[in-house]
Amino acid sequence: MAAVRGDRLAVLTSGGDAPGMNAALRAAARVGAELGFEVVGVEDGYTGLLDGRLRPVDLGALDEAARRGGTVLGTARSKVFPTPEGNARARAQLLAHRVEALLVIGGNGSLAGAATLLGAPTASGRALTVAGVPASIDNDLGCTSMAIGVDTAMNTIVEAIDRIYDTASAHRRTFFIEVMGRDCGYLAMTSGIAAGADAVLVPEVDKTEADRIEHVVGVVRRAYEGEAARRRVLVIKAEGARVDLQRLKSAVEARLAEALPDVDSRITVLGHVVRGGSPSAFDRLLAARLANAAVRGVAAGQTGFMAGWLGAGAPGPACDFDPNVVLTPIPEVLAETERLHRGETALALWRRRVYREVEPIIAR
Ligand code: F6P
Repeated sequence: MAAVRGDRLAVLTSGGDAPGMNAALRAAARVGAELGFEVVGVEDGYTGLLDGRLRPVDLGALDEAARRGGTVLGTARSKVFPTPEGNARARAQLLAHRVEALLVIGGNGSLAGAATLLGAPTASGRALTVAGVPASIDNDLGCTSMAIGVDTAMNTIVEAIDRIYDTASAHRRTFFIEVMGRDCGYLAMTSGIAAGADAVLVPEVDKTEADRIEHVVGVVRRAYEGEAARRRVLVIKAEGARVDLQRLKSAVEARLAEALPDVDSRITVLGHVVRGGSPSAFDRLLAARLANAAVRGVAAGQTGFMAGWLGAGAPGPACDFDPNVVLTPIPEVLAETERLHRGETALALWRRRVYREVEPIIAR
């Protein structure tokens, strides 16, 4: 039997934080309260669950939090939870704290964790209801076209590149800019195109380091030579692209030392800057709509699903609660995510093809 009015619904955020997690928590708390659930938050993801650190949510405080990045619940990458002992402890805590439904806001690993709790025994004698909402700046999850945090991260990167653009143009410099994304080049490619980068190096386009160096040398040479010479070259590297930035910089400088002696270069690694900051309006709304559909799905008796955003990689059909939201069984999400990472899904193949097509266009 499903979670019912009066049941305790616990919400946790897990894995790498993503801007919009607080907005998702706020929506889950408000919709949950409206539907008659007693909503509690779990501190520090699965780590806090293992310790039984659950607390009531304060709706007023969440209004303020929804405007901010990070997660007010705290997050963690627990090493203990995935072990059999950790899983047993988490189940015991859920039972002891009379949790009937669990909503997990996070990425791939967090959803994989949620799947292992599906059907855990509860105080009412029913099985634990589990739901997930995708949140990760990497946009590397299957069965959702967007995850919470991606839009804000893209905007942050574009703003950073715009700033670098100014100083690069002033000095006639080449900049090598590394952005997060783990093994996925989505953030690097989309923000690179939006910011007017000259080259984007992504893991999906499999090249040797020598080939990448050759490509960038060509881009830099063409950019500074000829009639339409530019005053800057911006090379964006996804963190997952297998090339060492220092080696790339040195190799490009060495190759062009004679032809372009006055052109020098710099490296900027944006790192965790990309993950923080106030969520964009889109991320706040995405978070609200995904959390709304997830909680309504729980109230309607559904379990073991992730609420994803309709579009590439998540073709639908949409659920009853939102024409843009698809509810997919979590095991299916995990399998699709694995195929996406291996480059086997239609979306992965499309991304790879487009990334190759984009390369010469942005280098012109
Ligand atoms: O998954 C989100 C992410 O920010 C990745 O882009 C990055 O590789 C990783 O997390 C960094 O993790 P941590 O904050 O643990 O260093």
